[in-house]
Amino acid sequence: MPEFFYTHAGNNQARPSEHFTVTPVAGSLGADIHDIDLNNLSERGQIALRQALMDHGVLFIRDQQLSVEQLEAVTQRFGEFGTEPYVKPMPEHPHVVHVVKEASEQTPVVFGGAWHSDWSFQEKPPAFTLLYGKDVPLTGGDTLFNNMYLACEWLSDTLRKTLHGLDGIHSPEFGYGPNAKHNAGLESMKIVYGENVDDNVRSHPLITRHPETGRNVLFANPVYTLGISGMKAEESRPILDYLYSVALAPAFTCRMRWTPGTLAIWDNRCVWHQPVSDYFGARREMYRTTVVGEKPTRGSIA
Ligand code: SIN
Repeated sequence: MPEFFYTHAGNNQARPSEHFTVTPVAGSLGADIHDIDLNNLSERGQIALRQALMDHGVLFIRDQQLSVEQLEAVTQRFGEFGTEPYVKPMPEHPHVVHVVKEASEQTPVVFGGAWHSDWSFQEKPPAFTLLYGKDVPLTGGDTLFNNMYLACEWLSDTLRKTLHGLDGIHSPEFGYGPNAKHNAGLESMKIVYGENVDDNVRSHPLITRHPETGRNVLFANPVYTLGISGMKAEESRPILDYLYSVALAPAFTCRMRWTPGTLAIWDNRCVWHQPVSDYFGARREMYRTTVVGEKPTRGSIA
């Protein structure tokens, strides 16, 4: 009998703000933000926006007019730029990745096309990713997100206590190692794959403490967390598969419909994402930056 997953809208309630309008999009996470101009946001408005990001995990900030330089400036209001491995950034903008799929491309492969949190194998993975929609398909090309606090809270006390003492092994092998041939289908982006990825294999606690909210969160994802320290693959695989099946319960997800001029900002410390490849033959163009985070620390046993 499959497990029945549920949640409630109390997880994703909007805090009233004098700086913008917040509309939650699902019971689990995600909010649309309207009535804001990111090029003219006050200090207090920026503090409120960061609080909204902590409240909702991912924000879809609508109707923004951002040049690449303005996207860089907005990014830096959230912290320092992250480092982008395996993807060549724009020549004049070393922290900006041009995420583009042309209508003429020959395969449906999309950049980042499986559930993940960004660059979780880094010593300090990105806290935030900002993705600005420039040209979006009329239909399709949505991005999905999920709430990893809720996935953590769903687990039994017994399993959670066991996970508290364990570390996940994060590796770029699946995405960018010698066998990651799917990247060759990305004709309009420069992906550097096929190299030795061993230098980028790293352990992080499976349950971390979110550095801003203080909440426990399950920190593992299907693309980069490939094992558990000290376990054989035969042991870790079923555990990770179960954790991923919980994390992907529809009740813990939301879906973002892009419009041109939407800036999405998500918190990689508590959210996964996946773009949907359902627009083959149409064009989609985005600009992407990251903000460096902290070295993940172990959560506390309640
Ligand atoms: C990504 O993984 O950063 C890409 C997300 C998207 O294109 O929607």
